[in-house]
Amino acid sequence: MEQKQAIPDERIVKRLEALRREITYHNHRYYILDQPVISDSAYDSLLRELEALEAQYPELITLDSPTQRVGATPLEKFSKVDHLLPMLSLSNTYASQEIIDFDERLKRALAMDGELTYIVEPKLDGLAVELVYEQGIFVRGSTRGNGFTGEDISQNLKTIASLPLCFLSRDAAPARIDIRGEVVMPLDEFEKLNQERAREGHPLFANPRNAAAGSLRQLDARITAGRRLDLFCYGAGYHQGISFATQQEVLNQLASWGCKVTSQRYQVTGSQAVIECCQVIEALRNQLPYEIDGTVIKVDSLLLQQQLGEKSRSPRWAIAYKFKARQETTHVVDITIQVGRTGALTPVAIMEPVRIGGVEVSRATLHNFTDLLHKDIRIGDRVIIERAGDVIPEIVAALPAARNGCERPVPLPEACPVCGAHVMREPDGIILRCTAGLSCPAQLKGTISHFAGKRAMDIDGLGPKLVQQLVERNVIQDVADLYSLSLETLSNLDRFGEKSARKLLAAIEASKRRPLACLLYGLGIRHVGEHLAAVVADHFPRILETGTPSLEQLMLTREIGPQVAQSIHEFFQEEKNLAVISKLLARGVEPVLPRPRTPRPLADKTFVITGTLSNPRELIKQRLADAGARITGSVSKHTDYLVAGDNPGSKLQKARELMIPVLTEGQLEELLTASPALEQLLLPLADRDHTA
Ligand code: IVH
Repeated sequence: MEQKQAIPDERIVKRLEALRREITYHNHRYYILDQPVISDSAYDSLLRELEALEAQYPELITLDSPTQRVGATPLEKFSKVDHLLPMLSLSNTYASQEIIDFDERLKRALAMDGELTYIVEPKLDGLAVELVYEQGIFVRGSTRGNGFTGEDISQNLKTIASLPLCFLSRDAAPARIDIRGEVVMPLDEFEKLNQERAREGHPLFANPRNAAAGSLRQLDARITAGRRLDLFCYGAGYHQGISFATQQEVLNQLASWGCKVTSQRYQVTGSQAVIECCQVIEALRNQLPYEIDGTVIKVDSLLLQQQLGEKSRSPRWAIAYKFKARQETTHVVDITIQVGRTGALTPVAIMEPVRIGGVEVSRATLHNFTDLLHKDIRIGDRVIIERAGDVIPEIVAALPAARNGCERPVPLPEACPVCGAHVMREPDGIILRCTAGLSCPAQLKGTISHFAGKRAMDIDGLGPKLVQQLVERNVIQDVADLYSLSLETLSNLDRFGEKSARKLLAAIEASKRRPLACLLYGLGIRHVGEHLAAVVADHFPRILETGTPSLEQLMLTREIGPQVAQSIHEFFQEEKNLAVISKLLARGVEPVLPRPRTPRPLADKTFVITGTLSNPRELIKQRLADAGARITGSVSKHTDYLVAGDNPGSKLQKARELMIPVLTEGQLEELLTASPALEQLLLPLADRDHTA
C-alpha cells in the first residue's frame, strides 16, 4: 500500500527552524561556554521533538540540523581535499632569548622603530583541521595532510559537540570562510580510553594527540562519536565576504559565531610582554583539561603578517615557543625485562603510579642495560622522571641521597628471561640480545604483531592477547602460518567468538594484496623501516621472486647505506627467511607492486616566485612542489630559479645581481610540461646554449 506523504505546512517549517535554533543555542551554552541555562531533560525533550518532526518530514532535514551529527554509513575511504591556502607549520623556539631574536628580526624586516603587537595563545597538542563554512553553515572539514591537500573527515568532525554545524547567527555570515583549528582529546577521556583498551588487549595510545588522530581517522564516524573530542579554533585560511585587520579580531569573530576559542589569548606589545605571557600560560598548563605543549606567538596585524610573508613551510610572522618536558619524582618498585621482536632485552621500571601533566604513569623505559648501569638505577630508588609528549616517561636520574640501604641493583641477565636461551652482547657493547631467534616465544610474538601492524600487513583484530594464545598453543610458528588459520582453530581459542574469527580471517585474506613495501616492512628486516621498505620496493619490485640483489646493487641505490645494504643482503641469504617467503607466496600472498615512479624533474631545485601571475600562485606552487621543487620566499645564493610575473620588484633585481635565472610564467609552464627544448633551462647558466 502506498504510504501517505505528510504535507508540511508553514507552521511545521517554522517550528523546525525554531527548534534547531534553540538547540544550537543550548549546545553553545553547554559545550562552548560551559554555562547551561536549561536542565538536561528539558534539552532532551527539545531534541526528541525535533527528531520526531524530522522523522515525519524527512525532506525537511537540513545539513546543519543538530540531529545530523552522526551519519550511519561508514565510508570506503577518505576523499582528498585541497586547501585553498596552504596550512603552514611553525618554527620552534625553546628559550626567551629566541623570542627576543624573533621580535628583533621582524622589526628589522619591517624597518620598524616602535614595538610590535602580538597575540600569544596556547599551542594545543592535537591535530590541525580546516573547517569550511559557507553562509555560516559547516560544509566540509579536512585534516592538514601535507599542508596543501588533506583528507575529508567531515563526518567525523561533525560528531564533535564543540564544532558549530552553523553559526550562532547567520546574519552577515560571509560567503565562505575556512576556519583553522585543533582537535584535542581531553586528558580524562584519554585515560578512560586507554584503560578500556588495556582491558580489551588493544595497544594503548602513546599520548592524547595520537588518540585524537586515531579517533578522527575512522571511516566509521560512529567510532569517533564514541570518543569525546574537543575543538578549538585559532585562525582563518581562505575567506570571502569578510575582512579582518588583526588576529585579535579573527579570534573574537570566531567566538561570536559560536566557535570555541581559547580564553588564554593575550594581546601584548614588545618581546618582554610576550615572554611574560608565555610564563603565564606555562603556569596554567597543569590546570588545563587538555594537553598544551607551548605557546604560539603571532603578529597581531594581518597587514604586517602579509608583508612579512613566509619562508618555505612556515610563516615569518609567527613562532612556537615550546615548554620544557615535565618532571616528577617517584619510587621504582621493580625492574623487569622485556624481550622485543629483535630479541633485544630492555629493562622496564615499574614505578609507584604518579600523575605527570595530567596523565598517570607507572612504567618507564630505560633504553638498555648500559643506560641502566650508567644511571645506576636500583630497585627501591627514588627517581626523577620526565614526560615529553608520550605516556611512557623516561627516568632522568636516581636520587642517591634518598637511599636507605635497602635498594637493590639489577644484575645483568645471562639468559633470556622468556626462553632461557643464551644472551649475547652486541658488538657496540650496548645492547643485550636473546640468541634464540624465532624459537623464543617473545620474539615470535613481537614478529607476528609487527607483521600484522597497521603500517605493515594491516591485519585488524590480531591483538596481543590473541597472538599470545596462538604462539603459546603452538598454532603458529612463523608469520606464514597466519595464512593457514581456519575458522575451527580460531573458534577454539579462549574468548574468541565466531564473528570475530570470521572478521579476522577476512582481514588476513585482504592482507594478501597489500603493497610490496608494506610486506617488506612487515618482514622486520633490521634497519629497514617504513620509508626504506618503500625505497627497496621501488627499486627492486621483484625481490621476493629473484632473491637478494647484490650488495653493490643495493649500495648504488639512493638512500641505502652500507649498514642497511648489509642487513637486507643478509636477510635474503638466510635460509629460514627464504623458507618463510616461499611459504607466504605459496599460501597466496601476492603483494601489489609499486607503480613506476613519476618523474620529478625539478627535484632539489629551489624556486622563488614574485610579481603578479595569471594563474593563482597557490596552484603554481602546488605544481612546482609536485615536480619535486622547493619554494622559498626570498632570493639567495641557494635559489635556482626566480619566476617573475608583472611588477616583480626587488626580488628580480636581487636575482639579476646573483646571476640567478629568471623564468616567465610561460617558460615555467614549458619547464613543468618537460618540453625537451627547455631542458636547457635546467642547466647552470654557464652551460647553456645561448644561441637557442
Ligand atoms: S597557528 C601558520 N595557533 O601547531 C600558523 N597553530 O606547528 C600555524 N597549533 O599545524 C597555525 N595550537 O596544528 C596555530 N594556537 C595555535 C595552535 C596551533 C596548536 C598547531 C597547529 C599547527 C602546528 C604548527
